[in-house]
Amino acid sequence: MKKIGIIVGSLRRYSWAKALAKNIAIIFPAEFQIEFIDISRLGLFNEDIESQPNAEWDRFRDQVRSSDGIVFVTPEYNRSIPGGLKNALDVGSRPTSKSVWEGKPAMIVSTSTGRLGGYNASQHLKDIALGMYMKIDGGTSDLNIGGVASIFDNNLALKDKGIAQLLNMSVRKFISQVVVSSIEPAISQAVGNDSDKFNFAFLPHQLHLSDLKGNQVAFADIELKFEPDVIIVDHIEVDDKYRGQGIAKLMAEKIVTICRTFDLKVDPQCEFAVDFFERNQQYHDLVQR
Ligand SMILES: Cc1cc2nc3c(=O)[nH]c(=O)nc-3n(C[C@H](O)[C@H](O)[C@H](O)COP(=O)(O)O)c2cc1C
Repeated sequence: MKKIGIIVGSLRRYSWAKALAKNIAIIFPAEFQIEFIDISRLGLFNEDIESQPNAEWDRFRDQVRSSDGIVFVTPEYNRSIPGGLKNALDVGSRPTSKSVWEGKPAMIVSTSTGRLGGYNASQHLKDIALGMYMKIDGGTSDLNIGGVASIFDNNLALKDKGIAQLLNMSVRKFISQVVVSSIEPAISQAVGNDSDKFNFAFLPHQLHLSDLKGNQVAFADIELKFEPDVIIVDHIEVDDKYRGQGIAKLMAEKIVTICRTFDLKVDPQCEFAVDFFERNQQYHDLVQR
């Protein structure tokens, strides 16, 4: 089961951001465990005590570390994020090299009672998150919800259908990002080196082939999509000096292996991949229809 941590930037009891966060939490399908990560009890970050045992800091760091993705829902304070949220980000970022944020997919939602929806807060948060090497996707990071006091009914359920639809779409994209992010290391490990001449490497959005000296031999631009689970093959390119040696076929066969191992379909988009999957009947079951 995947876990999503939700962090609300406002500490206020009747916070609109918190109300929105609760509405976002219920969009996630039941397979996702949702944990609200409280930042209100964290003491102020101080480098003098950063590696000394501190129950609240440790608990917070553990909660973030064990999350597969983080959703931030925050108001804007004086054209930036609230100090409490910045403090939490700093606490999680230390000690150096033990940051709990690195590699975590993040969804950013900013709120404001005014019209601009906390745009500056979300941009600042995006900058900070990218600086801490979180994974941010354009489709889930520019959600600026203005007039937040008027989007709920009396029970604080979202009544604004447009915003509900936007959040639904964004959560779906975010889920896909979280799943991709969690499967990438496993694929990287599985691609292995099954030849004494070449090494395969699986990078985000690319399958890479190099010779034993590390020189690039070929690459394939790919995208992983979920629901349905599919690898889209956008492009396969072999370096000039390796042309005519069956390298593109080797790349396509590696994609087949990844599909079989991880139960994925393939969606060939480039000419070579389309032709490869058409000609090889034994792989027809893999092709996304
Ligand atoms: C200290 C402070 C600074 C604020 N600065 C901004 C601001 O820069 N831009 C803005 O749109 N709203 C600003 N606001 C208004 C907040 O959007 C509004 O108070 C909101 O309801 C706070 O979020 P919450 O309801 O989740 O606690 C500020 C509020 C406070 C308390």
